[in-house]
Amino acid sequence: MAPALVLVLAAGEGTRMRSSLAKVLHEANGRAMVGHVLAATAPLEAHATCVVVGHQRDRVRDFLQGTHPGVLTAVQDEQRGTGHAVRVALQQLGEQSLELDSGTVMVLTGDTPLLTAQTLLSLHAVHVEAQAAATVLTAVVADASGYGRILRADNGDVLGIVEHKDANAAQRAICEFNSGIYVFDLPLLRSALSQLTTDNAQGEEYLTDVLAILHKAGHRVAASIAADADEVMGVNDRVQLALASQLLRQRVNESHMRAGVTIIDPQTTWIEAGVSIARDVVIEPNTFLKGATSIAEGAHIGPDTTLVDCAVEAGAVVLRSHATGAVIGPRATVGPFTYLRPGSVLGEQAKAGAYVEMKSARIGRGSKVPHLSYVGDAEIGDDTNIGAATIFANYDGVTKHRSIVGSGVRVGSDNVIVAPATIGDGAYTAAGSVITGDVPAGSLAVARAAMRIIEQWVLRKRAGTSSAVLAQAAIDRDEEQH
Ligand code: UD1
Ligand code: CA
Repeated sequence: MAPALVLVLAAGEGTRMRSSLAKVLHEANGRAMVGHVLAATAPLEAHATCVVVGHQRDRVRDFLQGTHPGVLTAVQDEQRGTGHAVRVALQQLGEQSLELDSGTVMVLTGDTPLLTAQTLLSLHAVHVEAQAAATVLTAVVADASGYGRILRADNGDVLGIVEHKDANAAQRAICEFNSGIYVFDLPLLRSALSQLTTDNAQGEEYLTDVLAILHKAGHRVAASIAADADEVMGVNDRVQLALASQLLRQRVNESHMRAGVTIIDPQTTWIEAGVSIARDVVIEPNTFLKGATSIAEGAHIGPDTTLVDCAVEAGAVVLRSHATGAVIGPRATVGPFTYLRPGSVLGEQAKAGAYVEMKSARIGRGSKVPHLSYVGDAEIGDDTNIGAATIFANYDGVTKHRSIVGSGVRVGSDNVIVAPATIGDGAYTAAGSVITGDVPAGSLAVARAAMRIIEQWVLRKRAGTSSAVLAQAAIDRDEEQH
């Protein structure tokens, strides 16, 4: 049985982040915290998912629209407590004629990026099996300061939750705390919410009070203890955010290693949740794999490499480089110190070597750009070589133009190919050429001034310099020999 509703509370300001960005939008290992929470709830397949927004509601809504278009939002104008947040959300969802008369609702907070789907699925299963009115996810730690504590009867029944600020010394010694994640029976939750008061240390409507209300009314209140207390760690400041990021990184790295990926130094390897990596890939230290990057079998990445939204095909090698939106073909090689910008496509066994920048350019099978070049807005065929220090001059100051280079072409070193230009199959260009027009297939283009020799210029114009002295000696030696 799937929950009728998943409700994520995210209206608070998150004061301790000291940020102009809403807390739940801060990223842990490359994904907004609320994005991690929604990813963990997805396998529950709830009929509806709603995020309660308040502080910075427009930014949070924009984020959700971009990444989770099916997710609803409810607005809590003033933050009058977690119980108030749930109450106004249910009211607003009811007005949008959402069917909320039966079934369960899972309530979570938007700042627990380490939650896993398994924990939430088992929490929901415990609730259904116990036929409980409410089930709270708890965890046990040595010191639960700051959290709400779980109050149990001698027989283990859950009696309620007392907030840290409202707790006495004996209650503060309790090590089992409230994660802030619960499953409720919807109609029973509604009726309990209508009985909440603000008679407590913070003057707020506490969602936690619902448990005691339900217990006193004779309903069953259950608890599920999380196996790993880290999972329910709430992030309140940037120290905790960095810690959560590290734990996420470790989790992601371990799952790749267990699936057959070699990670030489997991401590300096950051792989975001959306990255896929095949078996026998080797990842060298200090490598960052981001966005929707995919890496095929046997590729070798790093060290010191960042790939964002790239597709790396089987057996490719990427050494000490930065790439965004690039496709790196099978057994292609990139780097060191290569910058591939969006739309860079390398064919099978192609090469973009040291100090090469590419943008919106395709280089075909076996073609090479080995050294010190800029290839922008170009199509290059197969088995072509682009000489060192060649520049595709794609921009006339107003408009970008494309160039086309065929297959089997040899572009000499230090060419400028002024776009739009077309170089036909098998053509050659001389070193140092500025190619300003089309070069027909099979021809040689020489586009540079012929060399001039002005004999003894140094002896006349630079008399007395060491160059002139050395030149004179060489000329004298030459004369002696003849
Ligand atoms: C809450 C629990 C506490 C639990 C802890 C777990 C209550 C009263 N207490 O305390 O038992 O141990 O979480 O982290 O629920 N929010 C709103 N609107 C509000 C108030 C809060 O949307 O009016 C949201 C916040 O943005 C946040 C979440 O609810 O995401 C929790 O609020 P917070 O103020 O952090 O509650 P805690 O004091 O941590
Ligand atoms: Ca909190």
